[in-house]
Amino acid sequence: MADAPVSTNSNPRPLVQTRGLTRVFQSRAGLFAKQRTLAAVSDVDLDIPRGRVTGVVGESGCGKSTLARLVLRLLDASSGSVHVDGTDLASLPPAGLRALRRRMQMVFQDPYSSIDPRYSVHDAVLEPLRVQGLARDEAANRAKVASLMAMVGLNPVLANTYPHQLSGGQKQRVGIARALALQPDFLVLDEPTASLDVSIQAQIIALLEQLQADLGLTYLFISHDLGLVRYFCHRIVVMYLGRVVEILPDPTATPRHPYTQALMESTFEPDPRRRRTVTLLHGEIADAFNLPAGCAYAARCPQATQRCRSERPALIQPDGTDQGHSLACHHPLGS
Ligand SMILES: Nc1ncnc2c1ncn2[C@@H]1O[C@H](COP(=O)(O)OP(=O)(O)O)[C@@H](O)[C@H]1O
Ligand code: SF4
Ligand SMILES: [Mg+2]
Repeated sequence: MADAPVSTNSNPRPLVQTRGLTRVFQSRAGLFAKQRTLAAVSDVDLDIPRGRVTGVVGESGCGKSTLARLVLRLLDASSGSVHVDGTDLASLPPAGLRALRRRMQMVFQDPYSSIDPRYSVHDAVLEPLRVQGLARDEAANRAKVASLMAMVGLNPVLANTYPHQLSGGQKQRVGIARALALQPDFLVLDEPTASLDVSIQAQIIALLEQLQADLGLTYLFISHDLGLVRYFCHRIVVMYLGRVVEILPDPTATPRHPYTQALMESTFEPDPRRRRTVTLLHGEIADAFNLPAGCAYAARCPQATQRCRSERPALIQPDGTDQGHSLACHHPLGS
């Protein structure tokens, strides 16, 4: 795991702050069905400290990717705000947003999903520079691509190969090289290793760790795997059905929310290849289109009481909890 703060930046203000961040989607089950509303992300207050790795974890569909896209303003919020270095993203004119975007990049689970498959590695790595008008003459471009490839552990002789000739790990290295091309200080990594074999996953995580430390980068690292997040991240944000339910100030903190506890037990499987299939989580996930009045986890929670079913718990720092540890639960574990 990455040690203590690595940033040389002494600015104590978080790089990114969201307040009340909410994104609602409308959908119809069929042509004549009534329109339904789903809050994919609901009322999220999140601080992303500089030079550190903040992890976001939760099951599929809990709103992680929507949160990632909101933070980069690849998607507009329905309400709430995102501030980057004190600037409200919603207030920025297109030119200002474009300039800020150079500092904030995303690494996707499938890096070539957003790249033209006819692009060679050279073209793919150079594209962000071309888009920003920063590509130069042929020789300078080749040298730039070679240095980015070396940074991510790709042999520069692969520059003229195409995605179908690359392994999953090599493709992800191309995705990371693209993300680094504009020398950003903030990377959002959306399940960057979820489709890779375990041994390749470990190599990519080691690369990300090294880049983060060497370049003093700030990461928002998204995963459904709490074991991986606890290994890799300095701070952990747990989401359930669009809301933050617990924030662990460090990866060794003992979870006090019953959902985080269940996630932890479900990732206790020592063989990581089996982890995704082993689950100790019981019960149905609540219908996201029709959330209950109280705690969204109540139907699955062994601790649930009548109060849980009628009153939604707020995200607070309960008594006896370390600084920076907050959770949304009426009956925290260990009380
Ligand atoms: N463009 C969209 N239109 C309608 N619903 C969406 C859209 N994007 C995401 N959703 C819904 O929002 C919820 C959260 O999705 P997502 O953010 O992709 O979750 P995760 O990344 O945690 O799997 C899901 O119920 C998903 O179906
Ligand atoms: S509020 Fe109640 S139902 Fe929700 S997690 Fe806590 S104990 Fe369980
Ligand atoms: Mg996702």
